[in-house]
Amino acid sequence: MLTVNNVSMTFDDRKLYEDVNLKFTPGNCYGIIGANGAGKSTFCGFWKAKSHPQRGTVTLSPNERMSSLKQDHFAFDDQTVMNTVLQGWTRLYEVMSEKDALYAKADFSEEDGIKAAELEGEFAEMDGWNAESDAAQLLQSLDIPESVHQQLMADLPESEKVKVLLAQALFGKPDVLLLDEPTNGLDPQAISWLENWLADYENTVLVVSHDRHFLNTVCTMMCDVDFGKIELFVGNYDSGCNPANWLKNCALMPMRRRKNRSNSCKNSWHVSLRMLLSLSKRHHGRSNSKNHLG
Ligand SMILES: Nc1ncnc2c1ncn2[C@@H]1O[C@H](COP(=O)(O)OP(=O)(O)OP(=O)(O)O)[C@@H](O)[C@H]1O
Ligand SMILES: [Mg+2]
Repeated sequence: MLTVNNVSMTFDDRKLYEDVNLKFTPGNCYGIIGANGAGKSTFCGFWKAKSHPQRGTVTLSPNERMSSLKQDHFAFDDQTVMNTVLQGWTRLYEVMSEKDALYAKADFSEEDGIKAAELEGEFAEMDGWNAESDAAQLLQSLDIPESVHQQLMADLPESEKVKVLLAQALFGKPDVLLLDEPTNGLDPQAISWLENWLADYENTVLVVSHDRHFLNTVCTMMCDVDFGKIELFVGNYDSGCNPANWLKNCALMPMRRRKNRSNSCKNSWHVSLRMLLSLSKRHHGRSNSKNHLG
């Protein structure tokens, strides 16, 4: 679980958010929305420890693992496709590398043997023996054939790099998955595959996207970054206007937008019925919405 406590952030006298208190719980996919520059990526950066809020704390429950979609498409250029995906699980990759280094030693000592046994135990606990086949399966699902898995990332076209980086983020089913604009650069088949993958995902997902259809398909909660606040709403992008939230939202809107929102709300009830079917698994694991309102 992710917890945000009294978080405030200001850049150059511009307040992004003030005293934000939120909880992100397993079984939910949170769509983070807001205008360009509202502070969505900055918020995600706190979790990745890229930056820290000026005030307050963001914490991950003990022993939980977070994984995020890397934004730098060149960062793994000197790595093979397979190793890039495996590095999505930092500790697993460290253990694999340490083991390989130990077994390669010409003067393998008794002490090395003890260390290797410890590493083997940890490796088995992480289901390390299936790591490469799991990674290969993810890649193949994203249409990256086996013939490419040992190629260097530098040799891949941009359209394939984004898929490998996506596979890296998903690899090993992290407790918390952070995806900032995951559909950028993906072809429709890959987007559709990702939608299905997320709909079945039992852990916590935070996804920043401007793609309304994608948000409607995968999200169970919306997280709106705006006007110095971050607010949570139950439902996907359209059904974020369920009756209670809808009234709250519409009360703040000028007349014309209210009319549009009203139409989109009508449409969204059709979407919601369809969504209830496709998201039933995820909704099953959802806890009472009050728990999410911090
Ligand atoms: N290190 C920084 N120093 C100063 N200002 C910053 C810094 N990082 C971000 N900002 C500013 O904070 C604001 C929020 O940026 P952020 O990238 O989080 O927005 P965003 O909601 O992700 O936007 P987009 O939808 O365009 O990706 C922007 O005005 C940005 O210029
Ligand atoms: Mg951003």
